Amino acid sequence: MAEAHVKVFKDLHELSTSAASSFVEIAKEAIRERGRFTVSLSGGNTPMKMYEILGEQFQDKLDWSKVHFFWGDERCVPADDPGNCYGQAKGAFLEKVMAPAENIHRVESELEPAEAARRYARTLEQYADSPLAWPRFDLVLLGMGDDGHTASLFPGSPVEVDSPTLPVVANYQDRPARRVTVTQNVFNDARNIYFLAVGKSKAETLRNVLNGEYLPGVYPAQRIRPSDGTVTWLVDEAAASLL
Ligand code: 6PG
Repeated sequence: MAEAHVKVFKDLHELSTSAASSFVEIAKEAIRERGRFTVSLSGGNTPMKMYEILGEQFQDKLDWSKVHFFWGDERCVPADDPGNCYGQAKGAFLEKVMAPAENIHRVESELEPAEAARRYARTLEQYADSPLAWPRFDLVLLGMGDDGHTASLFPGSPVEVDSPTLPVVANYQDRPARRVTVTQNVFNDARNIYFLAVGKSKAETLRNVLNGEYLPGVYPAQRIRPSDGTVTWLVDEAAASLL
């Protein structure tokens, strides 16, 4: 498994600008080499600035008709709910880059978590890169919670899972439950994985995730170990302060 690369930025804006450029570079290479770019987007606050930059500055810098959008997790709330990951990305950049509707593969968050998870596994299979039952994502964007969760893989959740997606209905700390998550089985086949993490509140967990003992039950972000791909952490100085 390749070592994680860590890039430290002065602040979120500088990080997001770099992340948006990397997104476009990886996309162009994928489209050149394979005719499409598959990306799994993250929810949460951290990637929003990057999404806005993509929407504002890269509308005409990429053939967006060749981009296929997926999500690493989703809250089972209506698409127009402020907590909906798809809805966040749609407003920030999908509408601005005129992403074709048929290329947007959201989780059907209006369904019950178990049914939404089952159907999303089928969506992933529909766009699979054989022999996988899901896309070999060209890019997976992930965040990390202060507790080391990523996507909706939370501390204390089962580490060994054999499905591509899971419903998440348990309450982990105070977070809203009723979610769907893609699992590490899918993420770890990706070509490029980018974690975005900022803020002092993540510094201790980031040090433990990157430099500490391998405890995937405690730090789900450690479950992300691509077999033949790269992991890059884009962090700000505050989050990197204990590295
Ligand atoms: C979500 C994400 C979640 C997020 C982390 C970090 O749907 O919220 O999947 O894993 O990336 O909670 O969130 P912030 O970027 O807001 O710190």
